[in-house]
Amino acid sequence: MEALAGHRFFAYEGRIGGKTRIVVKKRKPLVADALSPVYLVGAGPGDPELLTVKALRLLGEADVVVYDRLVSEEVLALIPSGATRIFAGKVARHHYMPQAEINELLVGLARSGRKVVRLKGGDPFVFGRGGEEAARLAESGIPFEVVPGVTSASGCSAYAGIPLTHRGLAHSVRYVAGYTQEGEIIDLNWASLADPDTTLVIYMGRTNVRRLGEQLIAHGLSAETPAAAILNGTRPDQRTVVTTLTFLADRVEALNVAAPTLLVIGRVVSLAEVLAWYAPDSADHDDPGTSKVP
Ligand SMILES: C[S@@+](CC[C@H](N)C(=O)[O-])C[C@H]1O[C@@H](n2cnc3c(N)ncnc32)[C@H](O)[C@@H]1O
Repeated sequence: MEALAGHRFFAYEGRIGGKTRIVVKKRKPLVADALSPVYLVGAGPGDPELLTVKALRLLGEADVVVYDRLVSEEVLALIPSGATRIFAGKVARHHYMPQAEINELLVGLARSGRKVVRLKGGDPFVFGRGGEEAARLAESGIPFEVVPGVTSASGCSAYAGIPLTHRGLAHSVRYVAGYTQEGEIIDLNWASLADPDTTLVIYMGRTNVRRLGEQLIAHGLSAETPAAAILNGTRPDQRTVVTTLTFLADRVEALNVAAPTLLVIGRVVSLAEVLAWYAPDSADHDDPGTSKVP
């Protein structure tokens, strides 16, 4: 007898009516078969039109959506009114649902038999802790699928008119986290980051912007290197500050708006002057949202 492991059916040689026959039977569903997968879905940086077709379909079919604070209002508006929304982001000033609690929430919701979408800003697997959530689901025997999203590096830089690579300006790009969960600056390999041929995209870098700039210059990156801070990228209130590494910290610290902020450092930033195409329809039409260093 040979069971076809991993399939919904299994076959074996059996005797029927005194003759040897191949018998095919449906196997009993495993617990995992009975459950809908949990979908770890990337919501992109904000513009709802940057959602993938798959993300949009899954949102429309969801019973429950567990979402982060970085998911834009416009994307949240696409959740059907009948679906339950659970906010797993900031629950009070500077307090967040701990990751372990989110993991258990996902496991519990999946076991309740509902179709769960875990909606995360950008891409779930880029500084999104999607890997930890997927690992916990796997450990619990719960099926899951990952739907990649437009990460803010590509979304925000595209909307700011900054190609991350460009012939003659940058032949590589690095995504860097400028902040740790505990609020300590990450012990980065400054010497390897201070490469004029590489574009640095720094997520969560606003708090440590001064130290980031100082360290890069101390390790040999020119103080004249073009640098940008993109706030609320791809959203109607996107704002881009274009400057140089010398002035980046001053310019960012002078901004008195709380907003998700992406830092881009490298020669490619100079292209924004010509390529910045996105003019958000903001209230102030005199300010296209791009300011340059004097
Ligand atoms: C915890 S990380 C999440 C990254 C996300 N998974 C992604 O792929 O974009 C949060 C950081 O992403 C960046 N970010 C996300 N959305 C952004 C946006 N719309 N504009 C600017 N930066 C953004 C900021 O640096 C923010 O501090």
